[in-house]
Amino acid sequence: MQAEGIIKELVLLDGKPTARIQCDPALIPAPGQYLLAYADGSDSPPALRSSVLADSVFSSKILIDGFLAAPPMPISWMIGAHLHLRGPLGHGFILPSNAHRVALIAFNESPIRLLALLDTALKQEASVVLVCQTPPDDLPLQIEVQPTSALMDVCDWADYIAVDAVRESLPELRKMLGRGNLFIVKNEAQILIRTPMPCGALAECGVCAIETRHGQLLACKDGPVFDLKDLLSS
Ligand code: FES
Repeated sequence: MQAEGIIKELVLLDGKPTARIQCDPALIPAPGQYLLAYADGSDSPPALRSSVLADSVFSSKILIDGFLAAPPMPISWMIGAHLHLRGPLGHGFILPSNAHRVALIAFNESPIRLLALLDTALKQEASVVLVCQTPPDDLPLQIEVQPTSALMDVCDWADYIAVDAVRESLPELRKMLGRGNLFIVKNEAQILIRTPMPCGALAECGVCAIETRHGQLLACKDGPVFDLKDLLSS
């Protein structure tokens, strides 16, 4: 779907500026999905705006009439700006309805994109542990925060794991969780891989390619959320 959105408010999340975007509910990206967005007034030619120069935008909180975008926000975005949006794109997280012990793991990253799962997890009365280096402000009191050093124990405890990591950190993650240690991801586990996705699957540019045990896949179209085991054992 393509439609307009509007920046209604600028807020700080995790110490970084971002936007509350009002848009058609059908455009709101589910946790882990993304939109391609560019603001009115861009100098780029219309043919390029819808693909190469658009920004990938994830949600950190879903609202009735839009969503709170996860930082970073393009510096040119201002309050009141009209955005051209395309999406929602890609595959997001699927939190099983019977998950009662949920681990959100921000691997060397901000946990902000994972927080979009919180409302659903708390609604189904799951216990939630957030593993990250620096916890965000205003985290609900019932969320337990653990440091990265507790990763193994948390993975062993959880019956659903959601990870956020950049593509470059996959070798380190494989070393920690993969192969010989596959037992620690015995339950449902998914990973959001963040990498540039300039064409959003329109041009098959290949910039977002990821090696998996099923061969090379594209984050923009086959992800950006993948089954964690498919990536650990590639
Ligand atoms: S961003 Fe172009 S193929 Fe994925």
